[in-house]
Amino acid sequence: MIIIALDPPSNSNMYEWMLDRVIALSDIVQGFKIGLPAIMRLGVSEVARIFRSYNGLLIADLKMADIGDIMALSTEILHEHGFNAVIAHSFIGFSQALDTLSKKCKELSMKLITIVSMSHSGSMEYIDRHIDEFLNMTRRVESWGVVAPATRLEILRYIRRNLENGIKILSPGIGIQGAEPGIALCNGADYEIVGRIITYSQNFRETAFNVIEKQRKKVIECQK
Ligand code: XMP
Repeated sequence: MIIIALDPPSNSNMYEWMLDRVIALSDIVQGFKIGLPAIMRLGVSEVARIFRSYNGLLIADLKMADIGDIMALSTEILHEHGFNAVIAHSFIGFSQALDTLSKKCKELSMKLITIVSMSHSGSMEYIDRHIDEFLNMTRRVESWGVVAPATRLEILRYIRRNLENGIKILSPGIGIQGAEPGIALCNGADYEIVGRIITYSQNFRETAFNVIEKQRKKVIECQK
């Protein structure tokens, strides 16, 4: 289960770069995640044009951390442009923040994904000390899913153990950040978010098939 992170390099024609990868990968992956580089450079309307005939999971990774009303406004715009999921930080709190965003997501049938822990090492400096509070927040705002790292498996396992089964775990950190394909799935994730190892390769469809095959083998191995 793969969600492709599309982060085009700044020297590329971002529109073509993304379109090529969406065309090549849509039928073999479960969704796409678009971050700030593409949204800032192309604008949300151009991003929407790339995905106009795509019906899968389309996540806006703005890692929102604003007051609720403003996050709700951003979410309306993203919804108008075809996104069906948004990522927000948990540390902003419930009242006048995630409660408002959660209501807006429900109203628009958008999936809310909250961050419980991050894949970079700096996550240990602050965020990881609050995992239990962020797990509570996830329940409180009824997130569809959470982000948790493929790079620190003990944390991923802890989050899976302490989170209701219906709540999805999306796990970045595969490839360039060091984790091997399949390892997050083996440790409780529902999806692995995979970016550059696939999207920056010469033949991204072939590389994606290789990653899927590695995931499959790893999952069989860890189920033994
Ligand atoms: P790569 O190219 O390293 O891309 O496979 C990873 C993608 O995932 C994003 N990322 C995160 N997003 N919480 C998030 O919400 C995280 O902890 C995290 N770590 C990486 C990153 O922006 C890129 O798109």
